[in-house]
Amino acid sequence: MTSSDPHPHDGDSSQDPGTPVLEAQALRKYFPVRGGRGAVVHAVEDVDLRLHRGEVLALVGESGSGKSTIARLLAQLMPATEGRLLLHGSDATVRGRRAFRRYVRRVQMIFQDPFASLNPVHTVRYTLSRSLRIHRGRLRGPALEQALTELLDRVQLRPPERYVDAFPHELSGGQRQRVAIARALAAEPEVLLADEPISMLDVSIRLGILNLLQDLRTRLDIGILYITHDIASARYFADRTMVMYAGRVVETGDSEAVTQDPKHPYTQLLVRSAPDPDGMEDRALGARGEAPSLVTPPSGCRFHPRCPFAVDLCRTEVPPLLEVGAARTAACWGYAERADRPSLGSILETYGGHRAAAATSTPAGATAAGKDQR
Ligand SMILES: Nc1ncnc2c1ncn2[C@@H]1O[C@H](COP(=O)(O)OP(=O)(O)O)[C@@H](O)[C@H]1O
Ligand code: SF4
Ligand SMILES: [Mg+2]
Repeated sequence: MTSSDPHPHDGDSSQDPGTPVLEAQALRKYFPVRGGRGAVVHAVEDVDLRLHRGEVLALVGESGSGKSTIARLLAQLMPATEGRLLLHGSDATVRGRRAFRRYVRRVQMIFQDPFASLNPVHTVRYTLSRSLRIHRGRLRGPALEQALTELLDRVQLRPPERYVDAFPHELSGGQRQRVAIARALAAEPEVLLADEPISMLDVSIRLGILNLLQDLRTRLDIGILYITHDIASARYFADRTMVMYAGRVVETGDSEAVTQDPKHPYTQLLVRSAPDPDGMEDRALGARGEAPSLVTPPSGCRFHPRCPFAVDLCRTEVPPLLEVGAARTAACWGYAERADRPSLGSILETYGGHRAAAATSTPAGATAAGKDQR
């Protein structure tokens, strides 16, 4: 690490570059059901995740699949029911406010709604100065002005003097999200947890925010967990993609491979239904069922009530993540070496219809060339 390194965190120089900056092992979260006499929502089950610096990892799934719960567990905004969190390979579970503050400095979160996440009574200057003070100590006078200017410049709000004294209501949704990102950058984090950061923005400005995040991961070497229900944007933006279904990871791999040649029947359905996975019931499944209750999740493979290939094995045993190619896994018994496995067909052919936009389009209609801007 050099003196100009933008992330002068303690002890990093000795860390193995192959070690993920953030890792989750066997993460599980159960929420008690209010008045449910001990019943729980099985929101996240046995999730493993590894994020390296300078990498974008997409977490994709329809609403209710547990994506935000994972983000909140990784941000340590609530405790996990079970599982481990590691930062640079060391246990990272915080106990107490000071340890939490140290952790938050390295792992920052960006929320879906920039309207709700910025306090309407505070100017950009106040919001960013407060974050700078929390994470970098008390800056004053020219040093503070310099830091504010740098932050606004980094999120491409230029010229900075046009924005620094603005209130949130004077900014567009995209500009607000840029301020929220600048607030996160004030901590000089190593990880950004971006929970659906573009889904509430106008389609026309989504690509600008993704390109900004792309720029940050390249220039600042930040690892980004990009949470989305839109698998097309994962292909455009992320190196690797993890697909969730009903609280479990069902497929992982290189984003291009996962979106172009999905292996798990659910991923196939998701690709087919992009960019609107929540509408897949009507178009793809008809009366075949809906997202399962997570209070009493289906036994075995949680996708089995919706899967046209399900056999007894699927209904009784949970499929592990099986290797389905180079650095690819899928949690489907169809890829197991056993006699009682299901025989997989193409879910696209099973349900018919057109192949979805995911294979060809990108957010806001960007061209494939946009991906090369990484
Ligand atoms: N605080 C909570 N209390 C009870 N259930 C919750 C809570 N937060 C999330 N859930 C439930 O956990 C499941 C996963 O939710 P969430 O992580 O928000 O999914 P996603 O972000 O993929 O839409 C849902 O069934 C949701 O209702
Ligand atoms: S074939 Fe079985 S294991 Fe594979 S997705 Fe369908 S139900 Fe799940
Ligand atoms: Mg969510």
